[in-house]
Amino acid sequence: MTAAPVQPRLVQLGRAEFAAHLDEAIDVYVTAMGYPRGTARQRRSLWLEHAYRPGWRAVAWLGDRDRVIGVSYGYWGGPGQWWFEEVRRGLRALRGSGAEAETWLADYFELTELHVHPEAQARGLGEGLLRALLDGAGRSRVLLSTPEHAPAPPGRAWRLYRRYGFRDVLREHQFTGDPRPFAVLGRELPLPPVAELPPHRHR
Ligand SMILES: CC(C)(COP(=O)(O)OP(=O)(O)OC[C@H]1O[C@@H](n2cnc3c(N)ncnc32)[C@H](O)[C@@H]1OP(=O)(O)O)[C@@H](O)C(=O)NCCC(=O)NCCS
Repeated sequence: MTAAPVQPRLVQLGRAEFAAHLDEAIDVYVTAMGYPRGTARQRRSLWLEHAYRPGWRAVAWLGDRDRVIGVSYGYWGGPGQWWFEEVRRGLRALRGSGAEAETWLADYFELTELHVHPEAQARGLGEGLLRALLDGAGRSRVLLSTPEHAPAPPGRAWRLYRRYGFRDVLREHQFTGDPRPFAVLGRELPLPPVAELPPHRHR
């Protein structure tokens, strides 16, 4: 007789727990994004450094043996941060003035990472992470960047963000040192209640 599958549980991770689960979380990230394994080593120190930024918070789904099967984290964006400066540069180039850039960038939470292991996708876990991370994020807007040409299955991240009303802030943006085009998307916080969202488009 086989054991019943473990119901994943959604948890908020403090810094120590984040560090303890870091290798599993990065494994989910590398697998979900289809990145080479070597990416994991570079990301480790960056993710740990992010955990000390103002407004940092992290959530995860833990599955069998309390291993991470989905993870998301972010922090308050602000001047001097690499991502902030890259997006500001893009907005200024786009509009020729800093006015709209300042509006988006004035008071935002950066959703830095959101990933669910491919074997656990399409069960609502990604949506659960998004809601849990942004509930009480302490800023009036959320911004994120996502590849224009997403990993398989194509479009899943995009559908999630669009369903939640994320709008285009930048398209085809080129971050320094990365040849791939990215979109920067954003919306106001808090997120709408589930009952007010458009229905899923199950495929
Ligand atoms: C983007 C990502 C985090 C979403 O996670 P997820 O757990 O697959 O997302 P959800 O399950 O909440 O929603 C995805 C799909 O599942 C469907 N779904 C949700 N709950 C469901 C359920 N109970 N039964 C059946 N289908 C369901 C949704 O309708 C949605 O379908 P759609 O994509 O056809 O619209 C995940 O797909 C991922 O890690 N992708 C690769 C990495 C990536 O692109 N990350 C974002 C980079 S910024």
